[in-house]
Amino acid sequence: MLLILENLKLKQSLCYLVEIDTFEYKSYNMGKKLFKSVDKYIGKLLGAEDSALKGTIKAMKEADIPAISVSANQGKFLQVLARSCNAKKILEIGTLGGYSTIWLGRALPPDGRLITLELEQTHADVARLNIIKAGLDPIVEIRVGKALDLLPIIVKEGIGPFDMIFIDADKPPYPEYFEWALKLSRPGTLIVADNVIREGKVLDNNIDDDKVRGVQKLNKMLSENKKVTATIIQTVGSKEHDGMAIMVVN
Ligand SMILES: C[S@@+](CC[C@H](N)C(=O)[O-])C[C@H]1O[C@@H](n2cnc3c(N)ncnc32)[C@H](O)[C@@H]1O
Repeated sequence: MLLILENLKLKQSLCYLVEIDTFEYKSYNMGKKLFKSVDKYIGKLLGAEDSALKGTIKAMKEADIPAISVSANQGKFLQVLARSCNAKKILEIGTLGGYSTIWLGRALPPDGRLITLELEQTHADVARLNIIKAGLDPIVEIRVGKALDLLPIIVKEGIGPFDMIFIDADKPPYPEYFEWALKLSRPGTLIVADNVIREGKVLDNNIDDDKVRGVQKLNKMLSENKKVTATIIQTVGSKEHDGMAIMVVN
């Protein structure tokens, strides 16, 4: 049965035309509740936030910074990925208040290095304090500016290749971020790009939303680019349904 599901209680008022039957629709809502409960369960067991991470969220709230960090379990997931590739050098595009930076920074050895890029000075200032409180300031460097201006400088400085690159800034230039990430990689570098499913909006080929268009273009590039072995995992839990693209440079 064809149902027009308006908004699906999602943030935007986009109308979806989704081929789904009533049972699936009910299951979807039940699933959302269940995903949240399971997310809590996993978080309690394996994604506990210490005072630095909790303090980061609090400091962001106090500074009126949007609550769009990765979730605790996603932060832990990134940390596991960083550990699994023995990362010593990480590049992050999109710092916000430093929440994911802290999860990633904690995967690094004492002589590791994490460079994180942030457009907004206010975000960077809050992140800097959070990173200091987490004791990661000796290995984390925040660079402020447009990522597309900062990335060529990093290439020129010869800081790469990075062992892991996390792309989590504005979505329209995701294809460009991917190209820069490749320039800053070596075979084996792990590149992760967040928010590439956008509550399923990527299914809509006629969508007039430059964020969705940006990630659609990236996802297509991943399917065609021989330089990476890539997949996308859907992410559910305390945050909206989304996805992370995960790729290894060949
Ligand atoms: C989704 S948030 C990052 C969340 C963070 N990675 C976390 O999970 O804790 C995106 C961040 O990218 C920043 N940003 C947006 N456009 C940018 C650009 N062109 N260059 C660098 N940073 C940008 C935003 O200001 C925002 O702080």
